[in-house]
Amino acid sequence: MKRRLYLIGFMGTGKTTVGQALAAELGVDLYDTDAEIVQAQGSPIPELFAERGEAYFRSLEHVMLTELAQREPAVITTGGGVVLSEANRELMKQSGDVVHLTASLDEIVRRVGQDENRPLLPSDTGLRARVEELLEARKGLYDFANWTVDTTDRSIQSITAEIIQNLS
Ligand code: S3P
Repeated sequence: MKRRLYLIGFMGTGKTTVGQALAAELGVDLYDTDAEIVQAQGSPIPELFAERGEAYFRSLEHVMLTELAQREPAVITTGGGVVLSEANRELMKQSGDVVHLTASLDEIVRRVGQDENRPLLPSDTGLRARVEELLEARKGLYDFANWTVDTTDRSIQSITAEIIQNLS
């Protein structure tokens, strides 16, 4: 593999799960921007959003991505909103392979509905509409990836194998 492999994609597309399998298979370190931020700040993501706001979280995310982009070889998984920053998109493109994970709307709603840890999403009946709205707002922002893998109805093993096969 190149120096680094980044996994990007909307919430609920399988970045964390696939990243863990990939790092184990490749025998390289795994870093997750969200997990590293939580560890460094000593606060969970919903608390950071509630107490400091999204803009503050985005600045932490940029600083953390910049730091993780120095480590190699590594699989680096990211929060779904990391692509909102052009600087982040450029940094990932310049410093490794970038894989974009996708999933169907139904699958995303099903997966994120089981997790209370996402401050941008409501836990009530407005969930599906909010996911659709965010997907629309982020349309095209993931397109700079080297390739895209749909994780809907696929085993982790087959997704991981496909990604490894495509690595440069
Ligand atoms: C976010 C996605 C989350 C996390 C934060 C914001 C987003 O990560 O970074 O809640 O803006 O899409 P996951 O994609 O791992 O859920």
